[in-house]
Amino acid sequence: MRHLPEAPYNENVLVGFNTVDDAGVYKLDEKTALIQTLDFFTPIVDDPYWYGQIAAANSLSDVYAMGGRPLTALNIVCFPCNSDLGILGQIIKGGSEKVQEAGVALLGGHTVQDDEPKYGLSVTGIVNPEKVWQNVGAKPGDKLILTKPLGTGVISTALKKGAAGEEEVKAMTESMAELNKTAAETAAEYTVHACTDVTGFGFLGHLWEMASGSGVTAHVYLSELPLLPGAYDYAKKGYLPGGLVSNLSFLEDKVQMGQGLDSTLFELAADPQTSGGLLLAVPGKEADSLVSALKSERVTAVVVGEITEAKAKSLLVEG
Ligand code: CO
Ligand code: CO
Repeated sequence: MRHLPEAPYNENVLVGFNTVDDAGVYKLDEKTALIQTLDFFTPIVDDPYWYGQIAAANSLSDVYAMGGRPLTALNIVCFPCNSDLGILGQIIKGGSEKVQEAGVALLGGHTVQDDEPKYGLSVTGIVNPEKVWQNVGAKPGDKLILTKPLGTGVISTALKKGAAGEEEVKAMTESMAELNKTAAETAAEYTVHACTDVTGFGFLGHLWEMASGSGVTAHVYLSELPLLPGAYDYAKKGYLPGGLVSNLSFLEDKVQMGQGLDSTLFELAADPQTSGGLLLAVPGKEADSLVSALKSERVTAVVVGEITEAKAKSLLVEG
């Protein structure tokens, strides 16, 4: 979910579209708030089944990123009328299996004729109103943990140009289709000051939203960033998606750069992710324990930076 113009005040709206957050949150009573989100996009891999899996995983992710539990989902489908309906069936199959894996009930959906296929979900979940994670709230002393490797934009670009290897495409596809469910459920046992999922704005773009919105500076350990196999080589060879280039230009005046940075790693830090991992800010003394808990659940977990008091820029990137 992205933000829209300012909405009229409503006391039950805990998170609305005035903040740049992952989903909207509406308080039902003292113990329960509703989380609602909607996301859909055009195919990002050739295989329709995997496309469905990835689109569904991405739509569900915004509920996990708010610390919530998704309950129900509705399909949103656009499909050309003269196209093979078997392909549509595979997309829906991939999506509904992913929804089922999440333990979420698929209640229906709506299809519209459109020249370019599009697929995703509208997801409804619940969360304790006292325990909503937002993309702001990070505090000095927090460590930053990332739960999926980066590089899906770069590898997709290499794939479109016919340059990506089969194994690399497979690793990227599986990573994008992975639910953020286990990561979120594991992190819920710890103190989470801020959380967001890493998507189109790239790791650095989403971190900038977190740091600037929290009134702090995020210090990034560039060489610690987890990367998908092949991502570094393809970035170095110049397979940079348009979104990466625009993310970099957006970040230009917002980052203080350390000495002797690896420019390829910096580019990957801004790579748009189709269905990325969670980026969590947790108190420093809990970080190592959370990282090992995530790893024992087979979730990627790396401390990729820390939060300090606000400095001149919201982002400080070091090798
Ligand atoms: Co979203
Ligand atoms: Co999001």
